[in-house]
Amino acid sequence: MIEVDSLAAVRAGNRILDAVTLAVAEGTVTTLVGPSGGGKSTLLRCLNGLETFAAGRVMIAGHQLVAGDHPPRALERVRRDVGMVFQGFNLFPHLSAIDNVTLAPRIVRGVPPSEARGRGLKLLDRVGLARFADARPATLSGGQQQRVAIARSLAMEPRVMLFDEPTSALDPQMSAEVLDVIVELARGGQTMVVVTHDHGFARRAATQVVELVAGRVHRAGPPAEILTAAGR
Ligand SMILES: Nc1ncnc2c1ncn2[C@@H]1O[C@H](COP(=O)(O)OP(=O)(O)OP(=O)(O)O)[C@@H](O)[C@H]1O
Ligand SMILES: [Mg+2]
Repeated sequence: MIEVDSLAAVRAGNRILDAVTLAVAEGTVTTLVGPSGGGKSTLLRCLNGLETFAAGRVMIAGHQLVAGDHPPRALERVRRDVGMVFQGFNLFPHLSAIDNVTLAPRIVRGVPPSEARGRGLKLLDRVGLARFADARPATLSGGQQQRVAIARSLAMEPRVMLFDEPTSALDPQMSAEVLDVIVELARGGQTMVVVTHDHGFARRAATQVVELVAGRVHRAGPPAEILTAAGR
């Protein structure tokens, strides 16, 4: 589902990613770990065309992104097939939970409102929030908002979901609620790449752990191997 080949990215004269090569099979979960500044967010953003790169190649969900594409030509198609959830929830504050979830399917895909609402309610139910369909984001907890953001992303039926530290702004209880949702998605066969400092989550849900240090793949392998080898 994802193939990254010899990716290099340069920002402000510094090589932020260097010869990064990795593969993610369909239906698997990869966690990206490693020290702050290692390049995890940059790599994730290169995967869905939010950032460009200087050398190498990315194949994702059947789309090819090449070095120096600015903006990447395949961008629109990539965005349709690749969902992304960030640390902040970035919900539209003036829209209810259900309207946040149904907006893109209605506008981008032209799904009729009643059908979009029906599907949206199912997605909110899947993240445990059916009761909050008509609530505005400001009235929801951080964990609930993040679960709405996940449902919103799922509404486009992405082939790949990318998460950048989806729980780092949350307290432990809310983090657990969000991680449970992500684990459920993993069980359902959703292909995902998750940047996280939560090694417990990586052990529970990951097929593969990739450790990025100073822009390079330092280690990659099954969680038991990598997380133990790192002495954590
Ligand atoms: N646009 C930019 N201009 C200059 N430097 C940048 C830019 N974007 C990223 N960097 C640098 O690239 C490095 C990698 O950043 P990145 O955000 O990818 O790391 P990270 O692994 O996600 O870190 P964290 O765990 O703190 O989120 C950092 O040293 C950062 O300062
Ligand atoms: Mg980051």
